[in-house]
Amino acid sequence: MSRPAVLVARAVFPEVVERLATHFEVEANPDDVIWSRAELIAHLQGKAGMLTTGSERIDADLLAACPGLRIVANMAVGYNNFDVAAMTAAGVLGTNAPDVLTETTADFGMALLLATARRVCESEHFLRAGLWKNWRYDLFLGAEVHGSTLGIIGMGRIGQAVARRAALGFGMRVLYHNRSRLAGEIEAACGARYVEKDELLRTADHVMLVLPYSAESHHTIGAEELARMKPTATLINLARGGIVDDAALARALRERRIAAAGLDVFEGEPRVHPDLLTVPNVVLTPHIASATRGTRLAMANLAADNLIDFFTTGRPRTPVNPQVLR
Ligand code: DGY
Repeated sequence: MSRPAVLVARAVFPEVVERLATHFEVEANPDDVIWSRAELIAHLQGKAGMLTTGSERIDADLLAACPGLRIVANMAVGYNNFDVAAMTAAGVLGTNAPDVLTETTADFGMALLLATARRVCESEHFLRAGLWKNWRYDLFLGAEVHGSTLGIIGMGRIGQAVARRAALGFGMRVLYHNRSRLAGEIEAACGARYVEKDELLRTADHVMLVLPYSAESHHTIGAEELARMKPTATLINLARGGIVDDAALARALRERRIAAAGLDVFEGEPRVHPDLLTVPNVVLTPHIASATRGTRLAMANLAADNLIDFFTTGRPRTPVNPQVLR
């Protein structure tokens, strides 16, 4: 019996490709060539499944050009690269990779918060440039983290994991804003209190964004929201590019309307808004919040599990549009 053909659209761990090859005819992309959309569609001809890293846009046009495609498995918890309605209409299943990255990503949220508030990168650049001549009482004074107020926008699994670290590890007062309020026992377990977005922006010393990207969350933080934040506040974007208006943020940082920002994700990444590259009070990292070997391997294996389960048992683990399975 012929085996289904799957495309692994970007380079992933060779052991995951080998695992897939025990079930499928696999075309992989070990050199990590970034295909144009037309090239991606060409590679998808004859494929029933695809493993993506979350950067390939799956929409009605692509689905119409790839009628044999039945499942797209993202090795990412975010799936804003999927037009879920178009996939469901075409009967194509989408899966994501939640849970396995929660704690690692929350660790990085704290790393970015600490680096930003305590000016770790800015002071390292100063030292490397040979500018450090003397210890000074006011050299790179930063913002307090312990005992301060953290405002989290987006209180899913990762937001809750950040809240636990902040409340229990750093003694922070944690406020959150979310589409829906969490149950009392979940709020208590992560030491967080629900507030409206406006109160969060006005009162938090540090604002962290951990919400999914959608048309509704586009530019959740723009010039108006930045103006409502404290001039001493920091902003951390751990979520997705496009949730922050990066041009407005660069202006606010340059004019010191907020103190600092830490960004792991960018509008139109891997391009970074040029104004962000020239302001000193921002920590910039290349979308690495989930990047530990163990976590990225677990994400790739979960995407592979979804492909294998879909074609063997018909019950993939983490579907985003399970109605396709019925
Ligand atoms: C995710 O899983 O969504 C992370 O941002 C990695 O892409």
